Amino acid sequence: MSLANRSIISVDDMSKEEIETIFLLANRIHEDLPSFWGAGSGKVLATLFYEPSTRTRLSFESAIQRLGGGSISAWDMAASSAAKGETLLDTCRVVSTYADALVLRHPLEGSAQIIAEKVKVPVINAGDGGHEHPTQTLCDLYTMWLKHGHLDGLKVALCGDLKFGRTIHSLVYALARFRANIILLHGAKRELPEHVKRKLQRDYSVEVMPLQDIGPLQMLYPEGAPSELVNGGVDIIYMTPSKPHEPALYTKGGLRFNFDGVQLYLTRAQKERWEDPDDEASSYYPRVTKDILSRPEFRSTSILHPLPRVDEISTEIDDDERSLYFDQAANGVPIRMALLLAVLGLQELPGSPRQDEPSDFPLHTNTRGSGCGNAACITKEETTVARSFRIFPDRKGYWLRCYYCDHDFLATIYGNTQSNVYHEVRQLSREQPLREHVAFFRSEEEAVRAGFVKVSDNTRRAPNPRGIWPSMPSGKK
Ligand code: NCD
Repeated sequence: MSLANRSIISVDDMSKEEIETIFLLANRIHEDLPSFWGAGSGKVLATLFYEPSTRTRLSFESAIQRLGGGSISAWDMAASSAAKGETLLDTCRVVSTYADALVLRHPLEGSAQIIAEKVKVPVINAGDGGHEHPTQTLCDLYTMWLKHGHLDGLKVALCGDLKFGRTIHSLVYALARFRANIILLHGAKRELPEHVKRKLQRDYSVEVMPLQDIGPLQMLYPEGAPSELVNGGVDIIYMTPSKPHEPALYTKGGLRFNFDGVQLYLTRAQKERWEDPDDEASSYYPRVTKDILSRPEFRSTSILHPLPRVDEISTEIDDDERSLYFDQAANGVPIRMALLLAVLGLQELPGSPRQDEPSDFPLHTNTRGSGCGNAACITKEETTVARSFRIFPDRKGYWLRCYYCDHDFLATIYGNTQSNVYHEVRQLSREQPLREHVAFFRSEEEAVRAGFVKVSDNTRRAPNPRGIWPSMPSGKK
């Protein structure tokens, strides 16, 4: 199995092995650029950008041209047929027939996934709303890998807008798989979303714990660390005790952390995604200045940022050798050249695909049930697309995670679509109904609105076959 013809929608679409082989190829490209000239000759890359971009689009275009291929680009969508009301799906269907691969950036979450299902060429997600940005993560990880020679067990503090930063979401998933210790230093009201934390716990078996003492990282908050952070603790992500990777982290007195060598990854506030544009979240926001870097605690700290920066990093440290953000941007070209060679099938990369997918959990089409609750999910606009969810049981009920944007909700009610009767989800473990006859809801009100009725508990119901659903865990949660 190779990366040829595969779409890259999430950072999860590549195994750790595959990610590392991309790095090795990027290294070879970096060392001997001329020998790759012509490797992509005759290939055309289409870049469709529905949101502003400098680095991502231009580095993709540079990458294909340095391979001897060509690019076609639509980046001012006001000048394309989108302005005449053409749907994203129609535009991509057409443009994909002009090219061998499609790079898409779009404000709606899950947009790249939907397109990948409809077109015949590989699709690369260049950022879908606040969801993911997997190729930026490749640049981020590659930069860290070049610096440290490995990724396993790194200490990384992710700082800033953790709520809407798509680069943060892809990076946190990848770092969890590489067993990094991740500290979450958010700006006011910009915590890592709960659904991202649940995905981390469920898919990568990592624990999200409060870290009471943030040590020298307090300095990143210029007005002093907010009491909410100091007292409540910031979150730290680490492997569950069953897979300890830094046993010294957990002591009798609680969680201890040695901040030496911690990497700082900052992001700007993603204001374009704020629900309320007047919501000035900058009452506290982590920033790095020359003063901070001059402290002994940060002598071996690297500073990373996907760029563009606003004021999170003082320009005074741009020439410091610990500042890696311009390298990160420069690494975008060899990384994207390597990725294009792989997905266009021009270079066979060793490495097997991911084995650790949560594939035990069924995909469910919730046609008559609740839709995704995320207002920025592509399923809100492309309403013909099936409401697909991956289902995870826990003691509270069944979690439905949107297949497109990863937002999830807890279903407490389900309806039988043949009888139009609804019940509490707890009864499912007894009944085990057929998947296609079930609609899940977050509330009774939604079930009633969808035309389901309640019947008294003693009404007899025909038992359904067993074994279709993963059973609810019985232990305490
Ligand atoms: C990021 C993005 O677009 O998500 N930039 C990038 O691709 N280099 C980060 C950002 O815009 O803040």
